[in-house]
Amino acid sequence: MSRLTEARVLEIMERYGNEAQQLVAILLDVQEASGENRVSREWAGFIAEKLDVPLAKVYEIITFYTMFSTEPRGEHVVEICQSTPCGFDKAEQVVAWFESASGVTMGQTTPDGKVTLMRTSCVGACDLGPVAKIGDEVFGNLTEEKVRAIVAACRDGNRERMGELAC
Ligand code: FES
Repeated sequence: MSRLTEARVLEIMERYGNEAQQLVAILLDVQEASGENRVSREWAGFIAEKLDVPLAKVYEIITFYTMFSTEPRGEHVVEICQSTPCGFDKAEQVVAWFESASGVTMGQTTPDGKVTLMRTSCVGACDLGPVAKIGDEVFGNLTEEKVRAIVAACRDGNRERMGELAC
């Protein structure tokens, strides 16, 4: 459930001087503060109104950047590269490893709200394939064992371990 309040969203906008040019940064902070890793339609409308920008502009940003979502997502969004250079014949195998390790299928979130699985296209680390990305961190040369360790670290909130597993 969203833990945002109007006061919190206003505070975030104030931090960026209520500047429409800072819309991406504002939306990122609102998404992080939401507790659901998303910018809901309700908050998108609120922000558009308060910054006096068209709602279409806010949606344009939310739909353009894959880091945004209007739907609830887990704390860690695992984006699994499905492009040919790093996937070759392993892309579906890697998906199966993540689904097995997390217990959910692609596009779903674990019941504890920790992990969401998504497909993505090239993240610019083709030489490390197969690859997955979580936030800014890239995880390459994936094996079943490494995938299990990544999912476990996400679930435990073990950022240090995640850093060790990242490239
Ligand atoms: S094709 Fe997967 S990172 Fe480029």
